[in-house]
Amino acid sequence: MNQEMSFIQREVLKPKPDTSSLGFGKYYSDYMFVMDYQSEQGWYNPRIAPYEPLTLDPSAMVFHYGQAIFEGMKAYKGTDGTIQLFRPEKNMNRLNQSCDRLCIPPIDEEYLLRAIKQLILTEKDWIPDGDGTSLYIRPFIFSTEAYLGVRPAKEYKLLVILSPSGAYYGSQLSPVKIYVEEQYVRASIGGVGHVKTAGNYAASLKAQEKAEKNGYAQILWLDSKENKYVEEVGSMNIFFKINGEVVTPKLNGSILPGITRDSVIQLLKYWDIPVREEKISIQEVYAAHKSGELEEVFGAGTAAVISPVGELNWNDHAIVINDHKIGQLSQNLYDEMTGIQLGKKEDPFNWIVKVAQVGV
Ligand code: COI
Repeated sequence: MNQEMSFIQREVLKPKPDTSSLGFGKYYSDYMFVMDYQSEQGWYNPRIAPYEPLTLDPSAMVFHYGQAIFEGMKAYKGTDGTIQLFRPEKNMNRLNQSCDRLCIPPIDEEYLLRAIKQLILTEKDWIPDGDGTSLYIRPFIFSTEAYLGVRPAKEYKLLVILSPSGAYYGSQLSPVKIYVEEQYVRASIGGVGHVKTAGNYAASLKAQEKAEKNGYAQILWLDSKENKYVEEVGSMNIFFKINGEVVTPKLNGSILPGITRDSVIQLLKYWDIPVREEKISIQEVYAAHKSGELEEVFGAGTAAVISPVGELNWNDHAIVINDHKIGQLSQNLYDEMTGIQLGKKEDPFNWIVKVAQVGV
């Protein structure tokens, strides 16, 4: 795509929130990136425009048939003041995989990344620099065509919005309690669990609500066929440290291929810590707990970074992990990941992409 991006100025800028109590996804910056699609002309009219409500036709297909996909990324203010992104090309690539599965036209990955960098530069004063904070970036695409027949839409919108955010689970790196769900399922093989479509999250809400009522922060999903193999948590992938070795469920077509998940696997290999991607049943996790070999459990995701799990509740068995305390490996991974993201630690994998003036 080779189109000039336009800039629509807003009249009044918003006050910035207090960075000590940001929470997650509550505040939005002054501007967003927008681009439209029509089947005759492809993606067109890229623009940075004021963040404001949209007007959509009540018959816009997204409301009825749910072609809606998204990504989650973060921009960090590095210690030397540079703005840094973490493996953003992976998010662009996964966005296109989601497009493909939902029959949404693909985007030009390089163009979108340039546009995101331009938006971040426009909004650089919105990047918080408090401990554990970042500018959360939410690119998303949805169908806008006004039509009620069931087929892929011919019109879409792509937006990127920015949200200065703190820790996803309230406080950074405090062990969360997770409920192992046996009644509802998140996704099945052949479905859409491996891509980031809005419906996956809608499907998770009922169980999430149930878990929260019982004092749990999140759900651990099991496979849809046997209700046995661990899949993922609603907003992150999951890792178990059992007897010195780390295991994470192998990608099987219904688990989201997390970018943080992939980074954790690479880091563990780099540190010579044995790590395996394989099917792991909840019974094996319980057995490891019973024999005292379940050393740590942690989640990994863009929003959550590394989130230690202090307790799993499976079938009324409380599986308490490391006495509800942060495990050493979880702490090391968190320090390393955030250290790389903030430019405080070396980046042996070239994961960091610096945001400097770009032409779009
Ligand atoms: C992310 O980690 O960026 C996600 O997309 C999870 C989200 C549902 C908070």
